[in-house]
Amino acid sequence: MNTSIIILAAGQGKRMFSALPKVLQPLAGRPLLRHVVDCAFEVGTTDICIVYGHGGDTVQAEFSGESIRWALQAEQLGTGHAVQQAMADTPDDNRVLVLFGDVPLLRPTTLQNLLAQCEPTELAVLTVDMDDATGYGRIVRQDDAVVSIVEERDTNEKEKAIREINTGVMCAPAAKLKEWLGKLRNDNTQGEYYLTDVLAMAVADGLQVHGVKASNQAEVMGINDKKQLAEAERALQNRLVNSLMEQGVGFADPDRVDIRGELNCGKDVFIDINAVFEGKVTLGDNTTIESNNLIRDSDIGSDNIIHSNCHIEGATTGRDCEIGPFARLRPGAALASNVKIGNFVEVKKSTIDDGSKINHLSYVGDAVVGAGVNIGAGTITVNYDGANKHQTIIGDKASIGSGVELVAPVEIGKGATIGAGSTISKSAPDGELTIARARQTTVRGWKRPTKKK
Ligand code: UD1
Ligand code: CA
Repeated sequence: MNTSIIILAAGQGKRMFSALPKVLQPLAGRPLLRHVVDCAFEVGTTDICIVYGHGGDTVQAEFSGESIRWALQAEQLGTGHAVQQAMADTPDDNRVLVLFGDVPLLRPTTLQNLLAQCEPTELAVLTVDMDDATGYGRIVRQDDAVVSIVEERDTNEKEKAIREINTGVMCAPAAKLKEWLGKLRNDNTQGEYYLTDVLAMAVADGLQVHGVKASNQAEVMGINDKKQLAEAERALQNRLVNSLMEQGVGFADPDRVDIRGELNCGKDVFIDINAVFEGKVTLGDNTTIESNNLIRDSDIGSDNIIHSNCHIEGATTGRDCEIGPFARLRPGAALASNVKIGNFVEVKKSTIDDGSKINHLSYVGDAVVGAGVNIGAGTITVNYDGANKHQTIIGDKASIGSGVELVAPVEIGKGATIGAGSTISKSAPDGELTIARARQTTVRGWKRPTKKK
């Protein structure tokens, strides 16, 4: 039997107080809904339908080009009404698995287990025992069998004390589900059509409802406000860091690191506190990331040391590089091996070949720097004329003195030496010393002015 997965994502998320639709709020750098969709694909299905409504265009844009079916819920009349919008195009003999766009930490294995626990013709809900059940629908059982779900706002004192809650995940045979959804009423405190009410209908039809308990509370938490979003963030970070530690990555403190995307590490990588990784980042064998670094969409080679307080984005480094402290690598910074980038150095869209050093206070942009080059403190590639960017080419083994301006387009020859303080606007030949600065003079006998009486 085929499984159709229906993901509910039409709600506004009033409790977020945000212009961004709730299901697009970021968790570990990706929208809540992205986590749910990825999980759905991993469960293994060919039919994923997202019920969208609030902030529809932005939600759809986030998943454009993916094989997803969309069902519009123009007015948010409740979770039952939402599922109904997706049912018209769901084949009758399919099995339906309902997921919520605001329950993002679910693992595919938990869902596969739920599907395996009951016959495709039966109804099952995923439940969990929560330490604090506030806000969730309560699972009411009679002699072990689930008989109904009562929403927090509709509970009496006795029901409020129940700690087993509805995670929102449910599976049911499509034809039956269509029938039950058609009979839903909205005579409850919120005036909504509750998906959870189909349970009592199934029971009335003489069907057994399976309540399958998940083992992990964090995995099924629903995100309704910023506090829960932050809790989920920590829970997910824990999961990501644990899996890296299992692969041998060392962390100074697993609680003080943030992975907002995909982090791939080689052997013997060590990551100090407050490192933030965004997008796709790779760290080669033996690489150390010191404290307070932000690394985004970059490939860091093996045996690198990234000293404290660097900002690295869209960069690549080869073997044995040393970056920072306080360095900035911007998109297109491509460092070969044994390159040293020191404090207060900014590199943008430039290739720096083997063994070159830019140790202090420099800006290198739109440059091709050869091997074994030394760039002195305070050197600037003057790459922008106010309208266009121009290139600076520096040959192998060139030595650029301190405080030099290289006015691009300009080419410095191989083995050339540029005198400190020069403003170079014409090409400098191979192997020679080029200086371009005013000569020093001394005015003898000169007196400082004195204050008038
Ligand atoms: C829901 C469940 C509750 C469960 C909890 C788990 C119902 C009636 N209640 O409550 O039993 O314990 O989730 O987290 O099902 N949505 C729509 N259209 C709507 C309403 C909601 O698409 O008209 C979507 C929302 O975008 C969200 C999800 O459904 O992704 C859940 O809606 P929400 O309003 O957060 O339900 P809860 O009150 O949390
Ligand atoms: Ca919710």
